[in-house]
Amino acid sequence: MWYDLAPVGRFSATGGYRRFAFGAAELECRAWFAAEARRRGMAMEADGNGNLWAWWGDPAAGNAVVTGSHLDSVPDGGAFDGPLGVVSGFAAIDLLRASGDVPVRPVGVAAFTEEEGGRFGIACLGSRLLTGAVDPAVAAALTDADGNRLDETMAAAGSDPGLLGPDPDRLSRIAVYVELHIEQGRAQVDMDAPVAVGSAIWPHGRWRMEFRGRADHAGTTRLDDRADPMLTYANTVLAARKKARLAGAVATVGRVFCEPNGTNAIPSRVLGWLDARAEDRAALDRVVEELETATLQRAERDGTEVTVTRESFSPEVAFDAALRDRLAGVLGGVPVLATGAGHDAGILAAAIPTAMLFVRNPTGVSHSPAESAEMSDCIAGVHALADVLRELAC
Ligand code: GLV
Ligand code: MN
Ligand code: MN
Ligand code: MN
Repeated sequence: MWYDLAPVGRFSATGGYRRFAFGAAELECRAWFAAEARRRGMAMEADGNGNLWAWWGDPAAGNAVVTGSHLDSVPDGGAFDGPLGVVSGFAAIDLLRASGDVPVRPVGVAAFTEEEGGRFGIACLGSRLLTGAVDPAVAAALTDADGNRLDETMAAAGSDPGLLGPDPDRLSRIAVYVELHIEQGRAQVDMDAPVAVGSAIWPHGRWRMEFRGRADHAGTTRLDDRADPMLTYANTVLAARKKARLAGAVATVGRVFCEPNGTNAIPSRVLGWLDARAEDRAALDRVVEELETATLQRAERDGTEVTVTRESFSPEVAFDAALRDRLAGVLGGVPVLATGAGHDAGILAAAIPTAMLFVRNPTGVSHSPAESAEMSDCIAGVHALADVLRELAC
């Protein structure tokens, strides 16, 4: 499965993946998913939100156990964030079948749409739509960087955007979701643990920050006469770092646009996106509030204007405690960890009992081409997932 998937959407200049929801590379990943399902005689379906499902057993029977993750990537992402969970889902089913296990309830492998929000801006969009956490009309009107609307993009990919939205019937047929994911930090390296169980996801969110000023000549405009939004923006980035450090949070500005983007022109507008996360919700709220205040004060000094809009937010998620303990028990007492990364499991946890398994990442790096995993750890992950699916479904 890896050899088939590895070249899809790989950008040769960086070695990173560019698999954006409903783009050519991601559609190829979807075709790969369908082929893997077909090869195993598993029924495959795409739901109204573009999420893919492959079934061992009849999903209409209900009480299903579902595993999976996502196939999209951040810009120049690594090979494992997302696909490892989908590949491991199919591989775990192969293991169970090879050892003669027979499930007493349907087992599904899912691939959720736009988990990274890398194209349309809202992370976990497919699972949020499925559970009703995003208004389908809002989702339909989301645009990518080229101005393409989500509904039109889905229609072009053969998915009826009229079907976007919550799907309580589908959710009611799922009893449990277990997502396997590459670890995105160094916790398991430090603990010498190939596999771990997830306990919680930190609260996190995204804010779009628009800084408006006045375009002017870089050579003739006196410094005192400028309204330079780049200055306000730069101050905001530094302030985010300082406030996050003081609060024990993390804050990142990883995406930015500048207009008109000319070397010899003072910008008219800078757009930046803040990603902020903390273990503690109060600390996160404080960082964002204080940053907004500091930014408005700075804008006044710079003669610029600022608008901050929250684009998405995920409150803290504590995974189902009984399920978490059951998994840790089945796996012989592996470590249990919280993570600062968001996952569809965090969204689905609001609707169904949910758990996560993590596979060690030797570099601890993720959302980068340097993300890595050892083959032996990936295999340990598949065995762990198979043990969990056997415990839950056979
Ligand atoms: C997604 O991977 C996120 O945590 O931003
Ligand atoms: Mn990710
Ligand atoms: Mn992921
Ligand atoms: Mn994620």
